[in-house]
Amino acid sequence: MTHQDELKQLVGKEAVKYVENNTVVGLGTGSTVKFMVDALGDRVKNEGLSIVGVPTSERTRKQANLLGIPTKGVDEVDHIDLTIDGADQIDKNFQGIKGGGGAHLWEKIVAINSDKNMWIVDESKMADELGSFPLPLEVIPYGSRQLFKRLKEKGYNPEFRVQDGQRVKTDSDNDIIDLHLHQIENPHSLAVDLDQMTGIVEHGLFLNIVNTVIVGREDGPEVLKA
Ligand code: A5P
Repeated sequence: MTHQDELKQLVGKEAVKYVENNTVVGLGTGSTVKFMVDALGDRVKNEGLSIVGVPTSERTRKQANLLGIPTKGVDEVDHIDLTIDGADQIDKNFQGIKGGGGAHLWEKIVAINSDKNMWIVDESKMADELGSFPLPLEVIPYGSRQLFKRLKEKGYNPEFRVQDGQRVKTDSDNDIIDLHLHQIENPHSLAVDLDQMTGIVEHGLFLNIVNTVIVGREDGPEVLKA
């Protein structure tokens, strides 16, 4: 395991301490969340913790079910008590970029329907400002080349996400365009602009969403309240 993975595992294990019995828990997506779901599975198995998970991707749903964590879809629960998710970058105002794993649409739907949101990250994800990590957009395939041109004209440096020569597809069968912005001076005004562009289903700016961030540091997990 790499050192970065050790930090991811550290925060994953720390996060599940916050999960209470008989609650509904949103389960994020990504390599950090994978460690968290493992640790949650341990609590279900060893302590008889009773929870329902609401996964934000097919990947997470499969992992949770294999570990004996029961899951429901977001529309099958009344409410979600706490969602634990990873993030690609978090700035000093606790605004975030997500979607590096292509799951930010479902992640945002689960997040905005949760009473509380917790992000778990290794310390490399913390930044003064957002933008060095490319900003993912989930886009409808129909008209996506035209949308791409409009994004380019705006100077947003778009790039379709491609793997093995094929466009990467989301769990909703959409495409992903990453914006290589390098620096985002005003995340809120950028979010408004992207919200207004037809064809973008959702962007990866998660603004004013998180309540608690657990950062994996050399000397242990640091818990930050937003
Ligand atoms: C999934 O689309 C993302 O939002 C992930 O939650 C985020 O990319 C963090 O993933 P890692 O823990 O793998 O870095």
